[in-house]
Amino acid sequence: MTTVLTPELTAHWDEPDSFTLAGYRRSGGYQALPKALGMQPDEVIATVKQSGLRGRGGAGFPTGMKWGFIPQGDGKPHYLVVNADESEPGTCKDIPIMLANPHAMVEGAIIASYAIRANRAFIYVRGEVLHVLRRVHHAVAEARQAGYLGTNILGSGFDLDIVVHAGAGAYECGEETALLDSLEGYRGQPRLKPPFPAIEGLYACPTVVNNVESIASVPYIVARGSDAFAALGTEKSKGFGIFSLSGHVTTPGQYEAPLGVTLRELLSLAGGVRAGHRLKFWTPGGSSTPIFTSEHLDVPLDFEAVGAAGSMLGTRALQIFDDTTCVVRAVLRWMEFYKHESCGKCTPCREGTYWIVQVLASLEDGLGSESDLDKLLDICDNILGRAFCPFGDGAISPVVSSIKYFRDEYLDHLARGGCPFDPAAATAFGGAR
Ligand SMILES: Cc1cc2nc3c(=O)[nH]c(=O)nc-3n(C[C@H](O)[C@H](O)[C@H](O)COP(=O)(O)O)c2cc1C
Ligand code: SF4
Repeated sequence: MTTVLTPELTAHWDEPDSFTLAGYRRSGGYQALPKALGMQPDEVIATVKQSGLRGRGGAGFPTGMKWGFIPQGDGKPHYLVVNADESEPGTCKDIPIMLANPHAMVEGAIIASYAIRANRAFIYVRGEVLHVLRRVHHAVAEARQAGYLGTNILGSGFDLDIVVHAGAGAYECGEETALLDSLEGYRGQPRLKPPFPAIEGLYACPTVVNNVESIASVPYIVARGSDAFAALGTEKSKGFGIFSLSGHVTTPGQYEAPLGVTLRELLSLAGGVRAGHRLKFWTPGGSSTPIFTSEHLDVPLDFEAVGAAGSMLGTRALQIFDDTTCVVRAVLRWMEFYKHESCGKCTPCREGTYWIVQVLASLEDGLGSESDLDKLLDICDNILGRAFCPFGDGAISPVVSSIKYFRDEYLDHLARGGCPFDPAAATAFGGAR
């Protein structure tokens, strides 16, 4: 059983100046950068490959391999884009990283840019989080003043500048190609792939898009070596990651642990499900990953085991729901989000999310019939694999998985002619009564 967390990115978050250059340096920050600049760019890529780091933005693609796809000697500018658009319900790790430890991301971005031979990097921050935006701007300015950005960084001959860009606030702009369109000034809708961003990304040039946490993990890997990172985690899911516990849990928050930790272990560190209640369902990786139940408390939270159990590790956003929660109502709330955020480019997702909300809303009111469950599954089936981007597949996850595990609860709404739950009891204050 894991009783020891592995605070690395989160280690100094409780220090009052953790977000400043001085605070970051005091905790060993900016020691990886001179080491990386003393290596050949390909050596840096090899180090990240050997560490086994896989993308922390949801899909888990190997980071070093992605960097290795950037063509060399092509005469085109290369770009690094840090995806800081974090907007999925339950996902809340990148914003705290940027608030408490933005320099880890900035140092990681400089090292990643050096490795892929990019002289310009972009950090695409979700625009609504103004305080985060200010902090990232401040960190970049501090790094520039200290000589970590600009020309001839630390005498290495490497030049880099970072542009911090505020998105207008759209979940779909976190999808990497929609993000690139948005960054270029267009409406944030996804592009057809291929070509992949590594070949034709920002301004049709080779581009790496990486999540904030992926990039922030790079200084650790370079400073401590790929073996130190690879020693943590499981066979194919290496290293540590931030697990965000929210909802009906005694001590919600960010728990940094090796991949492969279980929810049972994390809950024991977080004081358990809120007092007097039992676990009903949870998401392993945010609202776009199929829900789990108490049957899955011992599933190792790594990419393979979560996949084998029928869900996805996603962003390790563990939303905990206890027995006061109506699953139909929770799924309806998520679907209202997806309906609102659907970018509208493709018919299955644009129309399907609209109709799913209509059907779910009437079921929650106890209206309709059992055949509406088949209708819901049919609409989902017409989105799955038929939508233009992965948004569609993610959006239907809560619907399909909730019907799989809680069909009886849907039917109970119909039998009683309404919802059997008290919504106030499911709120944070409701549980305390
Ligand atoms: C609808 C949608 C929203 C996404 N939002 C984010 C996001 O906010 N942050 C993020 O890093 N990746 C997000 N992704 C995943 C990105 O497309 C991409 O896989 C990721 O940024 C790659 O970085 P990584 O390899 O470091 O994980 C989203 C994907 C989809 C389909
Ligand atoms: S699945 Fe289609 S409508 Fe939905 S977000 Fe992607 S492109 Fe837009």
